[in-house]
Parts: sequence; structure tokens; C-alpha cells
Amino acid sequence: MDYLEIIGKNKLSGSVKISGAKNAALPLLASTILSSNEVKITNLPNVADIKTLLKLLGMLGTEYDQNNTDIVIDSTNVNKTTATYDIVKTMRASILVLGPLLARFGHCEVSLPGGCAIGQRPVDLHLKALELMGAKIELKSGYIVATVDGALKGATIVFDKVTVTGTENIIMAATLAEGKTTIVNAAKEPEVIQLCEILLDAGVQIKGIGTNRIEIVGTNKKLVPFKPFKIIPDRIEAGTYLCAGAITNSKIKIENIIPLHLDAILAKFEEMGYKILREENSVTIFPTKHIKPVNITTTEYPGFPTDMQAQFMAIATMANGVSIVDEKLFENRFMHVSELIRMGANIALNGTVATITGTPNQLIGTDVMATDLRASSALVLAGLVASNITKVHRIYHLDRGYDKLENKLKNIGANIIRKKEN
Ligand code: UD1
Repeated sequence: MDYLEIIGKNKLSGSVKISGAKNAALPLLASTILSSNEVKITNLPNVADIKTLLKLLGMLGTEYDQNNTDIVIDSTNVNKTTATYDIVKTMRASILVLGPLLARFGHCEVSLPGGCAIGQRPVDLHLKALELMGAKIELKSGYIVATVDGALKGATIVFDKVTVTGTENIIMAATLAEGKTTIVNAAKEPEVIQLCEILLDAGVQIKGIGTNRIEIVGTNKKLVPFKPFKIIPDRIEAGTYLCAGAITNSKIKIENIIPLHLDAILAKFEEMGYKILREENSVTIFPTKHIKPVNITTTEYPGFPTDMQAQFMAIATMANGVSIVDEKLFENRFMHVSELIRMGANIALNGTVATITGTPNQLIGTDVMATDLRASSALVLAGLVASNITKVHRIYHLDRGYDKLENKLKNIGANIIRKKEN
């Protein structure tokens, strides 16, 4: 196992090129199960979650030829319909094959994802929606066993909660269904929008893209011809490197991005006193003399993303005053708090609310443990400004979603090195 060793207090400078979005690439790769042809995809991020999904697709019968960030993928010969426990347990997003497999083959078995570090994370809304489309869903020996006679039937699905992968699963299922599906209270994340746009380009009739009401006319099991496409930039990776600039009070430019996707994040930097320069495909953050405390409530897009909550909490420990973070999406997404406290942060937790009493330069490096993907990046950020040495252990969480994190940080001046545990 690897860990990251960081010697803090370096000023950073320069620019970071952002990779393709993991959370866009996952549903898009799964959606190739709906495709009648081989597809070329560019800007694929080099992260462990993508390797895991490609492994799963390979087990189902997908063929692919990957060259760094480019992939030519062909799912026309998929002939297996089981996502096994050993894959799903390493990545919950494997659930994204459920909708397309069921729609195409009329049956599939996907290991039921368990809880995870950030909360219980049920998939009941995915299953309820598929049932409304005519599927029979049974839970057998830890597996979701889904079947349908003939094609899934278009239906009106009203999601009780906004669910990103739930919306994506139903969009994919609806593509091969018979008749029209209407998704009400749909997720509006840029990653959901890209999935819709790629399907639209493939000739699927979709209305309401980017709104909370999406209508899809299904093809009645006819596969659709995909066109080549490029994965959108990773807004969470972009936000994380902006946080690296913010916490070290350095000028950093983030390139290859869509600034619009970062609106909620940039607004919070501005509230904290940082100057932000938005350009067409880049954003630059400038240092501030006085980091102001901030109040954050996580919510669905276009609100402030839960996937940036931990990183902003790391910055809040350096602010002059009391910040409040209210985590509305996941009940246990505060695993980074106890590790930040071990580094000297003053944070009180009460249910879903964290109160952070910031003091510049209070963090002291020590051994800390990553517990989930974004919590891990918060610990790295804290390490960038801590005195002494910070060692972040269990970074396989980090590798799930950050493409070459330590290289990108090293390039802008951080003193960070990957080492092997003894
Ligand atoms: C996706 C993202 C993840 C992000 C999250 C919220 C991917 C691969 N992952 O996760 O990075 O943190 O959105 O923006 O895109 N819920 C239910 N029942 C369900 C489904 C969800 O109760 O069937 C609840 C969840 O527990 C959570 C909320 O709905 O409280 C939102 O979760 P959801 O949007 O589904 O998260 P994911 O799609 O798993």
C-alpha cells in the first residue's frame, strides 16, 4: 500500500490541467451497452474507478483498446449480465450497468452495494423506478436480480430524492424501453447532461435536458449508433486544485475546464475573500490577505456539491473565525473531521452540522488516514499548510478519483511524495 508524505508550507504557483470527469465517464462507459457500434471516447481520466468499470464491462463481454486518455470501446458483443460482488464492493457506481443491461437483455444480476464510509447509500430509488417500468426485482443472496418480459415499458418516474446515478440508470433504461419515460425530480448535474447529450447525438429522442423533468422516447430494444465524444472536465478535481491555491494562499490557474460548472464553488471562494478570474476555459484564484470564514450547505447541482465539502472544511480551519458546514446529502460524510482534529483543527460536530473555528497556521502535520475519496483530498490539502510532515495513509481512496494527484501538485510547487508502506 502507498502513502503520501507532504512537507507543508510551500507556496504554490503555476497552472494545473484538469482531467476528464470520473463521474461523467462512469455512466458514459456504461451507456455503451446501448450502442450498436464501436465508439471512440477521448479525455478519459486515468483513475482506479474507471479501471474498475472497464474490468466489469470486460467481464460482460465489452471489448476495448485504451491508449492513455483515448479509448475505442465496443459493447455490441456483451453476452453476460452479472456484476459480481468482488467488483461492486470496490465501486458502488457499478450499479450503473443495471439499467442498460436490463433494458437490453431483459435480465441482469448486480450485487447489492453495501453501505460505505460516507453513509448507508441505498439504491431503492433505482429499483422502484425500474419496477414502475415493468421490471420484476428480487433480492437473492445479496444480489439484485432484475427481469422483464420483452422490453421495459415507458413510465412516469417521480424520484422522492434527487439521485444522480439513479437518474442516469433510468435514462439508460428508458433509451431501450417501449414508449415514453418521464423522469420528474431528475438530477441536473453536468454529468447527467452529458449522458443525455451523447444519447441525443445517437438519435434518441430526449427532451428537458438539464432540467428536473426529462422525457425520453425509447427505441423498443433497438441499439443506437453512438458518435465519438470527449468527456467533460472534472469539476470536482478542478475545485480541489483551486482549494490547493486557496489554502496555501497562492495564485493558481486551473485549465481545460468549463467555468460554468464551478459557479457554486467559485462563489464560496469569493465569499472567503479570494479574487477569482474566470476565462473561457480556465479559472485563476488569487491569494487574499484575510481568509474569511464561510457557511456552506451541500445540495444538488447547481448548489454546492457534497464532493467539495471536505476540501472547503480544510480551508475553513485556516480562516479567521467560525465557519459552519451543513452536510445535507450523506449522513456520515464527516470522516475527515477527526483526522483534521488530530492535525490541530478546532471542529465541533453536531449531527449534520460541523462548526469550524479557524485560526491561520494552526495545523500540525502527523500521520492521518484517508477514509473516502474526497476526505482524502482534504487531508492532503491540510498537509500542504501544516507545519512538519504529514503522512496520508490508505490513499487507494484518493487513487479512485484523482488522476496523478501528487504529480500535478508537485508541478505547482508542493513538496509531496508517494511512498510504500513498510
Ligand atoms: C453521485 C456521485 C457522488 C456524489 C453524489 C451526490 C457518481 C458516480 N457519484 O453519487 O460523487 O457525491 O452523486 O452528488 O456520480 N439515495 C437514496 N436512494 C437511492 C439513491 C440515492 O436514498 O436509491 C440518497 C442517497 O443516500 C443520498 C442522496 O439520495 O442521500 C443522493 O445520492 P445520489 O445522488 O444517488 O448519489 P450517487 O448517485 O450514489
